[in-house]
Amino acid sequence: MMNEKIIVIDDEKMILDLTAMVLQHRGYEVFTADNALDGYNIIAREQPAVALLDYMMPQVNGLTALREIRQRFPATYVIMFTGKGSEELAVELMKAGAADYILKPFSNANLIDRIDGTLRLRAIELRNRELLEERERLLAEIAEWNRELEHRVTVKSHELERAHAEILQSEKLAALGHLSAGMAHEIRNPLNSIGLFAQVLRAGVVQDPEMVSYTEKIVSEVERIDDILVKLLASSRRSLFQLRSIRVQDVISQVVASFEEQARLQHVEMAVELIDSPPAILADGDELAQIFTNLIANALFEMREGGRLGVRMEHDGQSLTVVVSDTGRGIPAENLSKIFDPFFTTKEKGTGFGLSVVLRIVKTYGGGIRAESGPNGGSRFVVSLPLA
Ligand SMILES: Nc1ncnc2c1ncn2[C@@H]1O[C@H](COP(=O)(O)OP(=O)(O)OP(=O)(O)O)[C@@H](O)[C@H]1O
Ligand SMILES: [Mg+2]
Repeated sequence: MMNEKIIVIDDEKMILDLTAMVLQHRGYEVFTADNALDGYNIIAREQPAVALLDYMMPQVNGLTALREIRQRFPATYVIMFTGKGSEELAVELMKAGAADYILKPFSNANLIDRIDGTLRLRAIELRNRELLEERERLLAEIAEWNRELEHRVTVKSHELERAHAEILQSEKLAALGHLSAGMAHEIRNPLNSIGLFAQVLRAGVVQDPEMVSYTEKIVSEVERIDDILVKLLASSRRSLFQLRSIRVQDVISQVVASFEEQARLQHVEMAVELIDSPPAILADGDELAQIFTNLIANALFEMREGGRLGVRMEHDGQSLTVVVSDTGRGIPAENLSKIFDPFFTTKEKGTGFGLSVVLRIVKTYGGGIRAESGPNGGSRFVVSLPLA
């Protein structure tokens, strides 16, 4: 405490000198000013713990100076010198922020007492303020941690939701696989007979063109049903396959080539960016081709009035990514979660199997697929396949 800085601001030179002497003697570092303005400058520079301030000064009055110091230098505590018989004034000064007051004339002992008291009060209050600030800081830190925690929980919940949706999806596919395999088998046999009998019938009615056209309708409808059954089977279970080391860019090139004519007729520009030699992957070529055939068929369906088909390939050493994009109408947000479901279709003649087949194949290879739709239309399908 002894090295605390104290400033005395008083226009009476006598008081300044005397007080300074007494305080220096007590070990304080003392500054003096004979007017308030000089006082402010010294306080700004030295930041003394206590200011002894005379109430009666010619230029700036004591109350104004007191308020100014309290406002600008809250860590400097002010003790006011006032004349005797002005207790009311003293109360007003205390209200304005004075830490204490000393009635003039004062004794040295009284002066020292008041200063010691004020220094003690100041030490406690400053410590208190520090603790409050520390508390604020800790609260802010806790709030920050809470935010961080909430953020992590949200991220994890989303991951869980996604994982859950994927499990549901594969359960659906598995159930469907079971059902459809049996069903397709049961239906295709009698269907086959119907087709055969229709052809026999046709041979018997060749003279009657109307009858011939009916039998042909039966045959073509039978074929359509059979087609659906075959697709149903394909969407739910794996048919014969052969794993080979496959260059995905070759598979994509072939698929893209098979759509070139259709794209030209629809005035669809094809922007294909394949990378030259990403590592080959072990897969069945026909299965891989199915992925891109179905995606590109869907994309072209959306661009019957022209547009741009994008096929872009990249890899990062871990996995290979292929993005198939179009400039069609896009996919309404409410459909995004359903398009991979078997049977989900928005097309009059669609079966809704295309994307479920894609999903099944991608899953078979331990990969993933996600669909995105831009705010102004256009869809993107991002397929990723692990390289290992
Ligand atoms: N590129 C795309 N742009 C907009 N919508 C799409 C796109 N691809 C798929 N969809 C939507 O997803 C649905 C399901 O597609 P999916 O390929 O599974 O079946 P489909 O195309 O309707 O029928 P299928 O493929 O059996 O002929 C489509 O009906 C369509 O609504
Ligand atoms: Mg399709």
